[in-house]
Amino acid sequence: MQASERAFTNYLVIGSGLAGLAAALKAASHGAVTIVTKRQAAECNTQYAQGGIACVIRDDDSFESHVRDTLEAGAGLCHPDIVRSIVSDGPARIQDLLDWGIHFTRRGEVAERLEAGEAESFDLGREGGHSERRILHSGDITGNELVRVLLERCRANPRITILENHLAIDLISTRHVQWQGENCCLGAYVIDRDSRRIKTLVSGCTILAAGGAGKVYLYTSNPDVATGDGVAMAYRAYAEISNMEFFQFHPTCLYHPNAKSFLISEAVRGEGGVLKIRRGRDYVPFMEDYHEMGSLAPRDIVARAIDNELKRTGQPCVYLDVRHHSETFLRRRFPNIFEKCLEFGINMASDLTPVVPAAHYCCGGVRSDTNGATTVRNLYAIGEVACTGLHGANRLASNSLLEALVMAHRAVAHAARDADQNLPVSHEQVPDWSSGDAVDSDEQIVISHNWDEIRRFMWDYVGIVRTNKRLQRAKNRIRMIRKEIETYYWDFIITPDLIELRNLASVAEMIIDCALGRQESRGLHYNADLPTPVGARGKDTHLRRPAKAVIWHE
Ligand code: SIN
Repeated sequence: MQASERAFTNYLVIGSGLAGLAAALKAASHGAVTIVTKRQAAECNTQYAQGGIACVIRDDDSFESHVRDTLEAGAGLCHPDIVRSIVSDGPARIQDLLDWGIHFTRRGEVAERLEAGEAESFDLGREGGHSERRILHSGDITGNELVRVLLERCRANPRITILENHLAIDLISTRHVQWQGENCCLGAYVIDRDSRRIKTLVSGCTILAAGGAGKVYLYTSNPDVATGDGVAMAYRAYAEISNMEFFQFHPTCLYHPNAKSFLISEAVRGEGGVLKIRRGRDYVPFMEDYHEMGSLAPRDIVARAIDNELKRTGQPCVYLDVRHHSETFLRRRFPNIFEKCLEFGINMASDLTPVVPAAHYCCGGVRSDTNGATTVRNLYAIGEVACTGLHGANRLASNSLLEALVMAHRAVAHAARDADQNLPVSHEQVPDWSSGDAVDSDEQIVISHNWDEIRRFMWDYVGIVRTNKRLQRAKNRIRMIRKEIETYYWDFIITPDLIELRNLASVAEMIIDCALGRQESRGLHYNADLPTPVGARGKDTHLRRPAKAVIWHE
């Protein structure tokens, strides 16, 4: 039997990336906040964001232009009203960051030549699919700066408790307690990784900010924590899930056996970096053959073009050529990337940088509305875990940190102002976790084997280019693995590894199901057996767990 304890908090925030930390800081004005984060709080996807935050800052840029670029990248699936409202809220939320103490790089810190009076203006980067320079950044470690400053603020706030090394096992919803009435989130069960105690955290408002799921693929730019926990938990709590077939592959991760998919920011191409492939003794640009924006085309197109070139030529990688810049400039503008490449023996100022695509961002997620509210009352989803309609079939670069900030603000404002945080059951009616007759496992190999198998077949069968046959193969595999994991889950005392594997498998199945359901190629979902409709608006994919008349844990 795993021991348990319980607590109440006004706002339960699951996840400690930009969305979670910003929401916690805002919610602290309204009540007690508990942040649950499964490792050290700084270990999240945001921490590794290099590029920055897309926002209309310059007078000669416009919201309309940013909206147009977002819709164009999103391949007919963005929700234009959401796009417009998130883009328009950008400047106010960037002001929040500046007020919290974030430093964005100024022109004077990097420019090789400066116009008069330009030194203090923001140095705006450019990335794929953007028609303008509009990416605010802190060198090439924007995410690190965001997490550092916001986390420091959260730690200093007496109304915020941070539970590190605590992994959420499941959301608690009224579906788990009683079946009558509207489904409402009551909090979450979380496991303390150190003591293995399971806590029942009851809350008036639960904000899911649990991030992405890149670990579902063999090669990913994401850190180990990105196992899709939020989407999997929300699905189990009967929330609606959307558009999971749209998994974005970043075109340029460093190709080196020891680099563990280290990202080479798209901002490098924004500074004129050109993608090239080896032809005999020469290295030649190839992106112009695929798109008029060349190396700065939207990400789905660049990743697919690279995939095609690699398959066509049998080469292991393509190359990024940024040698037109001086070492001084590259060191100033991309200090972290430059140093990292140097560690692997690549001087970006004189050498070509070998790159390959890797899984990067989940554009689908928990369906949420303009306030971050999900289809489950008192459950909000913000950041990568959510699907608001901003990204459509392909996220525009650096729109995700913008979305995280805007939606954190809106979710808290909505929860504090409009939501009824009175729970439909008393705190005492919320059951503690019960592990029933489960015993300690003597078959840990099941976990590591299934973990590896899922990630490999997802890469091979559900990657950048899909076919009906590959998807069907993946479906057969995941069905068997899921069955095995479910049996294992209920028979043995749960561990963090098992929880993550169960979530990973569940998210893999959602990606496959959504991909099988989409009878067209669109944006990031490219199925070689299906046509790409030109100019047509598409429809979102919806997934919802079938209702079962059972009471949980019986
Ligand atoms: C990058 O720096 O290339 C990543 C930016 C993003 O994924 O939005």
